[in-house]
Amino acid sequence: MKSRNTIEEYYEYRDKIGNRTELYRVVAKRYGVASALYPGSHIDIAPSLVIPKVIYIDNFKGAISFFKNMEMIKKYIADKKEYEEPCDIVFMGQDYTGELDIESVDLIISQYAGFVGQATKKYLKASGILLCNDSHGDATLSRFDDDFEFIGVIGKNNRVIDTNLDDYFVLPRSKNVDLVKVKEKMKGPKYKLTAENYLFRKVI
Ligand SMILES: C[S@@+](CC[C@H](N)C(=O)[O-])C[C@H]1O[C@@H](n2cnc3c(N)ncnc32)[C@H](O)[C@@H]1O
Repeated sequence: MKSRNTIEEYYEYRDKIGNRTELYRVVAKRYGVASALYPGSHIDIAPSLVIPKVIYIDNFKGAISFFKNMEMIKKYIADKKEYEEPCDIVFMGQDYTGELDIESVDLIISQYAGFVGQATKKYLKASGILLCNDSHGDATLSRFDDDFEFIGVIGKNNRVIDTNLDDYFVLPRSKNVDLVKVKEKMKGPKYKLTAENYLFRKVI
């Protein structure tokens, strides 16, 4: 069987998940991000269009096979990137909860891939940014983690909202959030007010 073109495979994936380039662009610009870590990335290479150095980690065989075509990926990014520097793309085909031999980064991206923030926050620079959703409860764990300060959400049209944040992570009837249950179920609770993505700053 003829192997599919790598970039076509990415485009098909992008059609499925939606184009996140604007999301990553907005975050990278606002926080001056030059380096990022993306654990559980699968083949979402959009961050490299707007961030010069990105380390992708995924232990799924489809992702490992995709990133074997690194030359093709780098050529695609080099053609389309929005920054001056050469692109620096690293892929690690391993479990992100294991030890990672990497330097700390400006941004960690957590999208539908488990408790990424908890597992990899040690690789985030002091005052670095965690961008995450609450699909698996990663945002919830970050919200109640003293290592992180909740600094914003991404609203409609990828607009950063950094006011009235106390309205988020509030349960109906002001019930307490059960973090043990969140960890067990790997699912974010149903809050009164939610956002597609949340922003945290590493404290220290
Ligand atoms: C649902 S996909 C989401 C992919 C991508 N973040 C996105 O939003 O399109 C979850 C990905 O995380 C990867 N993953 C989950 N747990 C992982 C772990 N502990 N180590 C490495 N990869 C992991 C899976 O292999 C899968 O590719």
